Amino acid sequence: MTDIYSAVKISDHVYWVGAIDWSIRDFHGYTTPHGSTYNAYLIMADKITLIDAVKAPFMDEMLARIASVIDPARIDYVVSNHSEQDHCGCLLRVIDRVKPEKAFASTMGVKTLKEIFHDDCSILPVKDGEKLSLGNMELQFMETRMIHWPDSMFSYLEKDGVLFSQDAFGMHLATFERFADELPPDELEYEAATYYANIVLPYSPVVLKTLERVSAAGWAVKMFAPDHGPIWRKDLNVIMDLYQKWARQKPTDKAVVVYATMWHSTEMMAKAIAEAMAAAGLRVRLLSMNDVHRSEVVYEVLEAGALIVGSPTLNNNILPQMADVMTYLKGLKPANLIGAAFGSFGWSGESVKDLEATLKEMKVEIVADPVSARHVPREDVLEKCAHLGKAIAAELKKRISQ
Ligand code: FEO
Repeated sequence: MTDIYSAVKISDHVYWVGAIDWSIRDFHGYTTPHGSTYNAYLIMADKITLIDAVKAPFMDEMLARIASVIDPARIDYVVSNHSEQDHCGCLLRVIDRVKPEKAFASTMGVKTLKEIFHDDCSILPVKDGEKLSLGNMELQFMETRMIHWPDSMFSYLEKDGVLFSQDAFGMHLATFERFADELPPDELEYEAATYYANIVLPYSPVVLKTLERVSAAGWAVKMFAPDHGPIWRKDLNVIMDLYQKWARQKPTDKAVVVYATMWHSTEMMAKAIAEAMAAAGLRVRLLSMNDVHRSEVVYEVLEAGALIVGSPTLNNNILPQMADVMTYLKGLKPANLIGAAFGSFGWSGESVKDLEATLKEMKVEIVADPVSARHVPREDVLEKCAHLGKAIAAELKKRISQ
């Protein structure tokens, strides 16, 4: 075990003992250009407790950071707040190495860990609201099913006011700065929004309920200690307000045009729509899937009011780049959007119908007739595109003024 790694003390009794992944660039389909961290925490209570573990290849880094505080063999309890492999990948090997007196997870966590490891695990279930005595202090558990998986839970250490929030309030950002207030606010908001859009968005109704439950619990939370990215120790209302905003998905005056193109015909149509919407006063983002990653699209859609999608027809289908982003968007369930579809074709022309059908499946309200162009769009077709853009702008302005 190397001694180049150190723990970071984050409160009177808690150390950060996680790992920094400077290299990861893809997190199950979400591009992570700035890496990530897998945070684990050591509570120096009478019963020394490890909160969460790290992704399997980073176990030695975590153990080395623990060893900078205590011999890992002194750990009494291990708590697994979330059973996704970026946090539990090395859990059984850690348990085998340190031989804690007890290990805990939520009821669903125990089930999930057994399914992942094909092992009884000897992990004890804890219930929502249950308290665990660590001797001179206490942990309290709150199930947070679907933030991010059905097994997820928060653990709250009242003594230091630390809420261990696993995926919630996190971001994929590799830094040596351990606290959010050590980073520029714009960078924090961008990274937190990108993470919310790509990971948390489908569970927005649960987020709103969980924020209410945390408030109702009466906990004097001084710190959010998530499992990814920096720790929030100041102005917790900033990230809580952002989560409220993103979870509500109130439409804004922003329209996102997403398209792919073969011979620039669909691109011409996209630009005609975008220019018309911008001229009508909307904030417009024009994203070509020939060049843009799906993660950027969902980041832009997070605070949008309209989604307009376009594709040429290729072999009786939409272009594969558009199939990729539409599948991704559909799964992430952005809400409260209006939209329309457009595209060019040579002879069969299924793409526009298919795109509109997917928008409807996504519960995007279609508020303008689709526009198609055979081969290269003539002036009259580009005028129809401009009309589509104006119709979207008029409807969106009406809705956000209500
Ligand atoms: Fe960071 Fe859902 O795992």
